[in-house]
Amino acid sequence: MLTAPPPQTPSATAPPPEQPPLPAGYTILALETSCDETAAALVRDGRVIVANVVASQMDAHRRYGGIVPEVASRQHILSLTPVLEEALAALPGGWDDVHAVAATYGPGLSGALLTGLNAAKAMAWQRGVPFIGVNHLEGHIYANWLNPSADQPLLPAPQFPAVALVVSGGHTLLVLMRGHGEYQLLGQTRDDAVGEAFDKVARILGLGYPGGPAIQQIAADVQQSAPLPRAWLRDTYDFSFSGLKTAVLHKVQEVQKQHQRIDSRSRRGRRTAASEPLPLPPTEAEPPATAPEPLAAQYVAQMAHAFQESVVDVLVAKTVDAAQHFGAVEILLAGGVAANTRLRSELERRAQLPVRFPPIWLCTDNAAMIAAAAYYRFDAGRQPDWSLDVRPNLPLR
Ligand code: KG4
Ligand code: ZN
Repeated sequence: MLTAPPPQTPSATAPPPEQPPLPAGYTILALETSCDETAAALVRDGRVIVANVVASQMDAHRRYGGIVPEVASRQHILSLTPVLEEALAALPGGWDDVHAVAATYGPGLSGALLTGLNAAKAMAWQRGVPFIGVNHLEGHIYANWLNPSADQPLLPAPQFPAVALVVSGGHTLLVLMRGHGEYQLLGQTRDDAVGEAFDKVARILGLGYPGGPAIQQIAADVQQSAPLPRAWLRDTYDFSFSGLKTAVLHKVQEVQKQHQRIDSRSRRGRRTAASEPLPLPPTEAEPPATAPEPLAAQYVAQMAHAFQESVVDVLVAKTVDAAQHFGAVEILLAGGVAANTRLRSELERRAQLPVRFPPIWLCTDNAAMIAAAAYYRFDAGRQPDWSLDVRPNLPLR
């Protein structure tokens, strides 16, 4: 039986209330509100998903072409209760079957993080169960520990040492894990995160938000495209994607200028019948841009393909190199961009060791991954004080 919480109100320095040991195979309720998904999940024994509910705010942000922090916080407030109720409905005993509560406390948008963290702390306190704060990036990595189906036997857990490539809308990290909760940062992006680059390039190409799935989809029909540059940053495991994004922007601007020149010439031609030579036809290095406003579909597809190839090439090369160098026995792919099928297949093709990635619905933000990470944190005795605050720039360690 769980004990009732102590009667006094929590002070900023108070230790967590005395709690009995948790039963074997205990269930964690986790909340995730770091960005634009309001999510609640129940996970048993750190690996078995009992419920996984995600309310996407995509529609609320789409018209702005990106995430608006104020809108995100308000949407979390609106969605949290229904999402939580839907998750808890999966437990026959309801709250009595919840043995600990976890929430993401960073990195992310501070207002958004506050909604989930405060709700989780209040619920844990009120129920007299442990509260566990989780790093969002750690959550993405631990999605690899989740069994995708509760009906199937447990898959073998990932083995250490492992190299994890975390690629999301806000982060791009290459991490060495020698054990649970042991992270050695090998490299990270020096400018844009990969997902951010996908989103920005999609915007340049007029593909809408979120950009990753849109670029992947339109690039799928292209066999070959003129290569775009790759930022190798030799002798480091760091990444850079803003130059690539700018290269796409400049190419698109050149093509648009070319259109304008052709348009104004043909208008002048109609007026004066002048016979100026038309610009040279596009070369192989420059994908054709023949259709009118705003950009030719074929050109957009080729640009999307070239961009994706450039990103995937660098990510895969560095990850495979790091795995070899540090003697990893597995590669773990994590984060929203891990949903990219080209990245998955290329990593599997070029790596000499097993590559693991979560199913697509566990790659993007969800709370099941937070519960999985919370389980291993709690197991290692890493439970925070009740005063835990949000950390928008929380590093992985
Ligand atoms: O991990 P996530 O859901 O949120 C963050 O923590 O940032 O990642 C969202 C990012 C977005 O930038 C989105 O464009 C990207 O993941 N993404 C993809 C794909 N699906 C989502 N990027 C490339 N290919 C995809 N299939
Ligand atoms: Zn994420």
